[in-house]
Amino acid sequence: MRVYLESLGCQMNVLDSELVFGELAKRGHAPVEAPHEAEIAILNTCSVRQHAEDKAVSILGQFAAAKRKKRLKVLGVMGCMAQNEKGKLFDRIGELDFVVGPSRLGRIPDLVDEALAGKKRLLETAGDIDRFPLPDHRHRERKLQAAIEVAFGCDYVCTFCIVPFTRGREVSRPIREIVDEAKKLVDDGAVEITLLGQTVNAYGTSLADGSTFAKLLTAVHETKGLKRLRFITSHPKSVTPDMIRAMRDLPKLCEYLHLPLQSGSDRILSRMKRLYTVDEYHRILAEVRESVPEIEIASDFIVGFPGETEEDFQATAAALRELEFSQSYVFKYSTRPRTKASQWEDDVPQETKERRNIELLEIQRQVSLARNQSKIGKTVEVLVEGPNPKNAAQWIGRSRQNQVTVLAGEGVRAGDIVDVTVDAATPLTLFGS
Ligand code: SAH
Ligand code: F3S
Repeated sequence: MRVYLESLGCQMNVLDSELVFGELAKRGHAPVEAPHEAEIAILNTCSVRQHAEDKAVSILGQFAAAKRKKRLKVLGVMGCMAQNEKGKLFDRIGELDFVVGPSRLGRIPDLVDEALAGKKRLLETAGDIDRFPLPDHRHRERKLQAAIEVAFGCDYVCTFCIVPFTRGREVSRPIREIVDEAKKLVDDGAVEITLLGQTVNAYGTSLADGSTFAKLLTAVHETKGLKRLRFITSHPKSVTPDMIRAMRDLPKLCEYLHLPLQSGSDRILSRMKRLYTVDEYHRILAEVRESVPEIEIASDFIVGFPGETEEDFQATAAALRELEFSQSYVFKYSTRPRTKASQWEDDVPQETKERRNIELLEIQRQVSLARNQSKIGKTVEVLVEGPNPKNAAQWIGRSRQNQVTVLAGEGVRAGDIVDVTVDAATPLTLFGS
């Protein structure tokens, strides 16, 4: 049957969808690009902010209408919202056939069969982790780049975050298994691999066999034919000297670190339970930058956390100016059920959140522009991904530092790794030849 699968949320969801597609293909189902062509529709959901859940409900409403018209035969929900809402989703959307949490992906092909056989309200949100062992048939959208999930869940309990409730505690996969998967992906054409984890650099804790993130990086780095290695997302508290050494010493490892600071106020950081102070964060960054001078650092911020005063916010604005991130993702605080912070009043008015959001983005825009312009005249190494969708005479790719780079050049092909001399820059893009 024809399957449409839409992913909301993080890269982990994109990867999970590829895995599910691959397993469904093994049973003879075929992916389609548009929902109206599908007989089976699955939505992979995100719960990290209320906005993401609202979006999911609206998309599911459209799918439900297609099911009422009998165009769709099976409708399912997977991902964090499935875990968060569980059976309540069946009450909200009567046309839903299955609801599957992120730890139970492996059950989806059977559930599709059961739904086709007429079973209703199939719920899979409890029990042991059941994901796919070695994804042989994974359906990859992008040939050159691939992701591997190295750990599932998170052991931190940031007071705003729902992830520990939807994905549970950290469970790391053995190094051997990850190395095998990397080999398969490279055999299948990948030249760049990104290791994924909610807190990727806490990798190994659950294995209790001496496996560390640095050892994992070193092992995957050995993969023959692999040209670039990346990882996201890291927690400042889990940055170890070993990890920094690996970043310094492994040539394929790209000079990019996504290390969310979240707030520039120690008072707020403490209420968020981030377990570091702004000064400690500064020190960690200084160490990383000293060992890996070419590195670019990206961060996440939350504005309007309960109790955030103007003074707290100004401290965040100051940190943003000082720390010179290449990019910052800024989010307005959204109360999530079951989290510690949901017990506190969501007391920063929506307009204030909006204003703070815009202010931080504007500061970051200026910082990004200055940083990018300082690269003019210099050379960056770019993996060419394909023609520039906005101008077919140019090529587009990413630098090792994860910056989108548009380039002009003769005889260039997708998959090439080329040195690009930068001649212009905007806050989000480098241009060169
Ligand atoms: N470690 C994860 C974090 C997941 S959430 C990762 O892979 O990135 C991603 C970002 O969303 C967080 O860093 C935080 O800045 C933001 N976020 C999380 N919970 C939020 C909430 N309740 N309201 C607003 N933003 C939130
Ligand atoms: Fe969430 Fe904090 Fe873990 S942001 S994913 S609880 S590190």
